[in-house]
Amino acid sequence: MLVSATEMLKKAKEGHYAVGQFNINNLEWTKSILLTAQELNSPVILGVSEGAGKYMTGFKTVAAMVKAMDEELGITVPVALHLDHGTYEGCYKCIKAGFTSIMFDGSHYPIEENVAKTTELVNVAHNLGLSIEAEVGSIGGEEDGVIGAGECADPNECKMIADLGVDMLAAGIGNIHGKYPANWAGLSFETLDAVQQKTGAMPLVLHGGTGIPDDMIKKAIDLGVSKINVNTECQLVFQEATRAYIEAGKDLEGKGFDPRKLLAPGAQAICDKVKEKMELFGSVNKA
Ligand code: 13P
Repeated sequence: MLVSATEMLKKAKEGHYAVGQFNINNLEWTKSILLTAQELNSPVILGVSEGAGKYMTGFKTVAAMVKAMDEELGITVPVALHLDHGTYEGCYKCIKAGFTSIMFDGSHYPIEENVAKTTELVNVAHNLGLSIEAEVGSIGGEEDGVIGAGECADPNECKMIADLGVDMLAAGIGNIHGKYPANWAGLSFETLDAVQQKTGAMPLVLHGGTGIPDDMIKKAIDLGVSKINVNTECQLVFQEATRAYIEAGKDLEGKGFDPRKLLAPGAQAICDKVKEKMELFGSVNKA
């Protein structure tokens, strides 16, 4: 059931668990995530970066595919189709295409400009029933060309953006997209705690979910994180399973070259990874 992320995140914040945002890249990704959410009776957010949207030929294609797949698979759990790290223009494209949720990443703008653009987009999104995420303090690393230095957010700026009425807030707390380097200092729980104190009931978002140790994830949820984004980890397990299939020569046996067979181990690996994360985040049976 396609919905905005507002209600599912409010419930998660109140219930002290987190909803997973899993980024999609193609039909197999989408199908694996939707089927797993349904099997586990968990709410879920499908994240689409601007790069992935372009790869799938545009946001209209993505919205049409997700809407149709949700219906054809008989998905009854709440599913939000969410733009990940959207530009100002990208937000409008997704609103027009039929997404149910957007993220406006204005973290690279001066705070005044971030406030002005976020204010405008909050009004537009809410008038149309969409949820909206904003960001303060950039997330480190690189995702689809969006590069951030990984600084910690200023809790006062977080309050300023939260007060604009966004539905969820991404605050940089030393998290990084992609694999974490060996010398990573870990999440700044001090920053997270300060942001939580300032923003109260606001569902906080933890980007860069890949590779964060389970105990840090649990502590972050305890401190007010209600949405956790995972992208790279699904890509890695898909790659590993596909490599194993080919290295075992299975693509050369019988009709093993059929794309439905060739991509099946990777698709199953995504199901297994999403299940593991939903169990860790505590969203199972919370639909
Ligand atoms: P990872 O690729 O590190 O899991 O981060 C995902 C993310 O934060 C998407 O916005």
